[in-house]
Amino acid sequence: MNAPTVIAEVRALAHAARRVCVLTGAGMSAESGIPTFRDAMTGLWRRFDPEQLASEAGYRADPARVWAWYAERRDGVRAAVPNAGHVAIAEFGRRRPGVLTVVTQNVDDLHQRAGWPQTIRLHGDILADQWLQPCPRGRACDPADAPPDEPPACADCGNLVRPAVVWFGEMLPEGAIDAAEAAARGCELMLVVGTSGAVWPAAGLAGRARRSGAKVAIVNPHPSEIDDEAHWVLRGTAAGLLPRLLGDLHRDGKGDIGA
Ligand code: OAD
Repeated sequence: MNAPTVIAEVRALAHAARRVCVLTGAGMSAESGIPTFRDAMTGLWRRFDPEQLASEAGYRADPARVWAWYAERRDGVRAAVPNAGHVAIAEFGRRRPGVLTVVTQNVDDLHQRAGWPQTIRLHGDILADQWLQPCPRGRACDPADAPPDEPPACADCGNLVRPAVVWFGEMLPEGAIDAAEAAARGCELMLVVGTSGAVWPAAGLAGRARRSGAKVAIVNPHPSEIDDEAHWVLRGTAAGLLPRLLGDLHRDGKGDIGA
């Protein structure tokens, strides 16, 4: 259980700070029904091999298998709806213009659909496609029709379409990590929600914020690898805690911020 004073302290800082950065990971969307990667029983990387399913080499080895796996995950994302945590973040940002930066490792679009389209996406967008490589002929590739269980390919050069997510060993999207670093350096409060802190460079953002003078609060039901960077660790879920940390008490009519 979290001490009521801790919730009150984080809440007070969130509402006083001139710059707040929220960094989210897969746990942010867990209560929307999207599986995380490393949770003990349900995490995707507990059941599937990331080398086979989330690397260029794995895709080249078996494009149809990888394409089908992403098609299933895309269906899950399309069917999911933002939870109370996504909504609390977006509403907080709209109530306090110019204060909030959201940086996510998630490839779903739930922050955007909750009303925060300017979310910085470090690991790409699972619902978007891109070409596997620049056109080897130096022209614009053109996807030919493909059966639903196979990735479209360019009729001219055979280049394959792939999901626009960052795979292991790949660079983060241009500009995204710079914007995230700037937000980490410039914030007074960093709220880290639902990440194991196992994947870099995202995992370094909490330490960057702390070294730049920010207070760091973590929201996670379980220990993470970056708990040491936090001034406060709140044990609980995104949908459970974020409305209490970021919500509008006046509008909600709730004066109780106890644990
Ligand atoms: P992980 O699966 O590594 O960690 C999920 C975290 O969410 C864990 O620490 C859980 O304890 C926590 N969690 C679970 N349910 C929660 C809830 N309801 N509320 C809050 N927290 C909860 O996911 P990430 O840290 O996001 O990379 O993983 C980082 C990257 O590794 C992902 O972006 C992905 C993966 O490989 C790419 O897609 C490139």
